[in-house]
Amino acid sequence: MLTRKNVSKTFAVIGDPIDHSLSPNIHSAAFRELNLDCSYIAYRIPKGELKEGIESLKKIKINGFNVTIPHKIEMMKYLDKIDESCSIIGAVNTVTNNEGILKGYNTDMEGFLDPLKKKKIKIQDTRILLLGAGGAARAIVAGFAKEKAKSITIANRTLEKANNLSILAKKIGLSSIPTEINKIENLEEFKIIVNATSVGLKNEQSPISLKSINSNTVVYDIVYLPMNTNFIKKAKEQKAIIIYGYEMLLGQAVRAFEIWHGVEAPYNAMKKALLGGF
Ligand SMILES: NC(=O)c1ccc[n+]([C@@H]2O[C@H](COP(=O)([O-])OP(=O)(O)OC[C@H]3O[C@@H](n4cnc5c(N)ncnc54)[C@H](OP(=O)(O)O)[C@@H]3O)[C@@H](O)[C@H]2O)c1
Repeated sequence: MLTRKNVSKTFAVIGDPIDHSLSPNIHSAAFRELNLDCSYIAYRIPKGELKEGIESLKKIKINGFNVTIPHKIEMMKYLDKIDESCSIIGAVNTVTNNEGILKGYNTDMEGFLDPLKKKKIKIQDTRILLLGAGGAARAIVAGFAKEKAKSITIANRTLEKANNLSILAKKIGLSSIPTEINKIENLEEFKIIVNATSVGLKNEQSPISLKSINSNTVVYDIVYLPMNTNFIKKAKEQKAIIIYGYEMLLGQAVRAFEIWHGVEAPYNAMKKALLGGF
């Protein structure tokens, strides 16, 4: 007689829009690779309906879920326990459900750092330029603070948001200079330049000119669709060191997988599934 070693487990990603999420592909590939009796679904919860959405997830005894736009900040209200990664960033992207007790984590910070570490790029004592001051930028600032960067210049379209993020950076020990994105100059000062604006998603031009960078500059675009944004193309013209948005996406999914399953994630199988989804 066949016996099941594992009780079947269900996971989800919640957000709106959600139908183009690549997370179901990535996690399902990992389940197949490790022969886990698990499933992962995309569940659309519109803004304003988060409370009811979470109740229904609890009813079906969901084992864990990812959280994406627009719920990453509001979800904090519904957590019973909060990991440190979440409290520093003020947003949640991964939740575990242990018999109705919801614990929140933020794997965006480690996911962001993962490709930099894999490529052995030195962060300590380097100057960083960060474009954008939205939700993702908060996790990135926390990552650079953790890795003891020398300073971060936060350049945003809306100066007030750059100012607010700069206050957070200083609070967690990272020297920070807020500025408007169209006032950025002297790019050669920066070792790492990150695009954390949403510019590129609709094939827009690069948010800044990259003409003055060189082949030692690391250019990291967190926008992952399209893979080759105009920002990435301009960086390639300067022969810069490139990090793609999909690498962060993969990094955060790997961390979430390991929180839920307590085993090493099958990185290559997850990467193959993700790249196949483009
Ligand atoms: N690779 C990954 O794993 C990963 C993870 C998270 C997010 N992302 C991507 O990162 C991007 C940002 O996400 P988010 O959650 O931080 O979004 P968000 O909170 O909405 O922030 C959007 C940011 O983009 C800026 N922006 C928007 N349109 C702009 C324009 N036309 N010119 C200049 N700046 C503009 C905004 O500036 P204002 O403050 O002036 O509005 C803000 O700084 C999205 O494309 C998302 O898909 C990728």
